Amino acid sequence: MPRITIEPFAHSYECEDAESVLEGALRHNLLLRYGCKHGGCGTCKVRLVDGDVDEHGSSFALTDEDRAEDLILACASVPLEDCVVDVSPTELSEDEFHSGDTSRPYDTVVESVETLTTDIAAVRLRIIGDRMPFVAGQFVNVEIPGSRLVRTFSLANCPADDDRIELIVKLYPDGAFSQFLRSDAVPGTGVRVHGPYGQLKMRLSHRPVLMIAGGSGLAPLLSMLRDCATQGFDRPVTVFFGARTEADLYLVEEITSIGERLRGFAFHPVLSQSWGPDWPGGTGLVTDAIARWSPTLAHDVYLCGPPPMIDAAVPMLTAAGVRPRNIYFDAFTPAAQTVPA
Ligand SMILES: Cc1cc2nc3c(=O)[nH]c(=O)nc-3n(C[C@H](O)[C@H](O)[C@H](O)COP(=O)(O)OP(=O)(O)OC[C@H]3O[C@@H](n4cnc5c(N)ncnc54)[C@H](O)[C@@H]3O)c2cc1C
Ligand code: FES
Repeated sequence: MPRITIEPFAHSYECEDAESVLEGALRHNLLLRYGCKHGGCGTCKVRLVDGDVDEHGSSFALTDEDRAEDLILACASVPLEDCVVDVSPTELSEDEFHSGDTSRPYDTVVESVETLTTDIAAVRLRIIGDRMPFVAGQFVNVEIPGSRLVRTFSLANCPADDDRIELIVKLYPDGAFSQFLRSDAVPGTGVRVHGPYGQLKMRLSHRPVLMIAGGSGLAPLLSMLRDCATQGFDRPVTVFFGARTEADLYLVEEITSIGERLRGFAFHPVLSQSWGPDWPGGTGLVTDAIARWSPTLAHDVYLCGPPPMIDAAVPMLTAAGVRPRNIYFDAFTPAAQTVPA
């Protein structure tokens, strides 16, 4: 059986046949960071220092640059021989590694499902029992009641409100969770949630912050903004919010009111499809609007939204001079997934 050595902790464990690097670690009560477990979120990106792996399943969370830097997805990589894997890219501490997986299932009930636009809803769940501590930017996996399907959604609420879960969900005509929300999610309905996962979070630095949201991608950024307003954040924050039409923008009043509590706050809604003659905001693709605005080396950038938006924004940001290591994102990749073991 192949042996995996985890650096920088110099700790090794064996993987069984066809077991991924991640599954092997979890089976040995060790933690590697993970989220979706199916190659969709990129949370489990680690560096393969030695050995070889078979990359199975979907691995669209890896970019060409990641591959050039020998990054692999621990959840989607089955070792073919003894391997050395460096987990530094996931910022995992040695204590966390040895403490094992602290994410767990939480039972919740639906409090409300509120329509925000024609295809975006705010979903509020109340946690029954223990609170779920989390960091603004993290996400959860939600079991769809009555099925073995799981869907990934970012937490939109402030971490101070850890007795509840708020999600901002894009509704797809043929989406499984979307269908549940449309038909069955009456108040009181039980929903099991697993988490929290992910390492998108506000980094400590002196740099001003640029946030870029597309569609329901506002969710984790809203959690960060709500947290900033609560904590008295003192760095300038600029938010770009891309939507098709004015009717597709939502929670604008709340964003504006959070902005009034932050120093040096600027909000730029950008419409890509149609706008009235009096529209005061930006127009065109949100990425083009940001390119015109000129982000600089000085910024920490947080972005969330559909994968094409991320794919367009990251090269634009780096071309504009933002350091790749100062760009943090979750791409909202679609998924079909079974309930985690
Ligand atoms: C880290 C992370 C955080 C996320 N946070 C959010 C969030 O806060 N809000 C949000 O709205 N979304 C978020 N997403 C995306 C969300 O998990 C997916 O869009 C999810 O698939 C929606 O579930 P659904 O059941 O409504 O639709 P699904 O049943 O998953 O279908 C969604 C669409 O994708 C298609 N589809 C389904 N499966 C696949 C597949 N395997 N390959 C290609 N296409 C497929 C369907 O035909 C449909 O058009 C996040 C994703 C990730 C990875
Ligand atoms: S846990 Fe590996 S890509 Fe999501």
